[in-house]
Amino acid sequence: MAEHKDGAGSGTAWSGRFSEPVSELVKRYTASVSFDRRMGLQDIRGSLAHAAMLARQGIISAADLASIEHGLTRIRGEIERGEFAWNLDDEDVHLNIEKRLTALVGDAGKRLHTGRSRNDQVATDIRLWLRDTIDTIDGLLLNHMGALLDLAEKHAATAMPGFTHLQVAQPVTFGHHLLAYVEMARRDRERLADARRRVNRLPLGAAALAGTTYPIDREFVAQQLGFEGVCENSLDAVSDRDFAIEFVAAASLIMVHLSRLSEELILWMNPRFGFIDIADRFCTGSSIMPQKKNPDVPELARGKSGRVFGHLMGLLTLMKGQPLAYNKDNQEDKEPLFDTADTLVDTLRIFADMISAVTVKPEAMAAALKQGYATATDLADYLVKKGMPFRDAHEAVARAVRAAEARGCDLPDLDLAELRTFAPEIAEDVYAVLTVEGSLAARDHVGGTAPNQVRAAIAKVKKSMTGKG
Ligand code: ARG
Repeated sequence: MAEHKDGAGSGTAWSGRFSEPVSELVKRYTASVSFDRRMGLQDIRGSLAHAAMLARQGIISAADLASIEHGLTRIRGEIERGEFAWNLDDEDVHLNIEKRLTALVGDAGKRLHTGRSRNDQVATDIRLWLRDTIDTIDGLLLNHMGALLDLAEKHAATAMPGFTHLQVAQPVTFGHHLLAYVEMARRDRERLADARRRVNRLPLGAAALAGTTYPIDREFVAQQLGFEGVCENSLDAVSDRDFAIEFVAAASLIMVHLSRLSEELILWMNPRFGFIDIADRFCTGSSIMPQKKNPDVPELARGKSGRVFGHLMGLLTLMKGQPLAYNKDNQEDKEPLFDTADTLVDTLRIFADMISAVTVKPEAMAAALKQGYATATDLADYLVKKGMPFRDAHEAVARAVRAAEARGCDLPDLDLAELRTFAPEIAEDVYAVLTVEGSLAARDHVGGTAPNQVRAAIAKVKKSMTGKG
């Protein structure tokens, strides 16, 4: 069959209607190929499924389908090998690939876009890309949890001061403390899985905005691409990016959690705490102070959370004033989305590695526990069990703490006679309660810090990880 000619003009996919080409500046301003080429493989996947549907419905011939498949397979190889010549003149990933396809297979390539628009095409590509990315991030979250769990297991009974208001509060185990971050990561996975359900719907078939006049089969395309269903409204399908916003919101919370952990790692590495050491390969030195070892990786993770939150605000703002349906504004969704994913992937990768290489210093944690009267609540609970109302017990122990403070010692350093001056109920058995080990072991319930509970919690999470999480 003879090749049909492009419209007049500079030879872009839409130039037929125009009497003058766009300026270089406008071309650069409006083009997205410099960043959306990242979705090249997803674009090909979507096109293969669309073409298969067109042939199945008798909209294009079997011969055209064979040519399209042949051409797209070749282009996929070129992209994978880094040989594909991306061209700014062809605006975006979609037109670049379509143009190359037509160069390779002629008219069949020009038939691929039948019943489709770049509006539903780009929405499909982003969803395919994001679905893969969510799966990658989920795997990295699992690794991060694995590293935390391994460390928690080793330190299920290692005592450290637990803080409130960053002041010594009560003894906890280091394992228990780490398990708090495991719980955060579990919820992060749930959020991603939930967002994924809404990502995983097919926009194709919506065409530009109103649907198409061809007898298409959207369910077939959805099935080919592994989507759970189709977007039910064509206008919504091409215009909303709420699924991307949800992902960046979930990513923001992951970064909040990693940022909090970073802050603690930095504090714990400070010699005033001295609870841990971070392996040299995650730190850098100072060009002026020879003694320095700076925890650059957790500091950067804490800092990078800001750019992800910024992307969330950017995407919300991008959507808010847009009338239905597709607007070019939406092209601005990709860079924040890609940067969010890149930041998250790198941060999670580095974290799993860094956590596995943390050196824990239980002696420093134990020493810190001796300052701050961490077992004062245990003494109050002891008095309550002897029959004293809690408020009175609180008062009696507060007086005991002041006495110990005046003497510069810890509560268990006060002798029995002195302790009894604050509450005559106190007997010899009080010393078992005032020890750190006694305090930890006493919090023996689900969610508590007793070492056997920490071990049980680790086993429970590990079991859930081999299943669905
Ligand atoms: N590059 C565009 C984007 O990212 C693709 C869709 C363009 N559609 C259009 N009608 N100009 O949104």
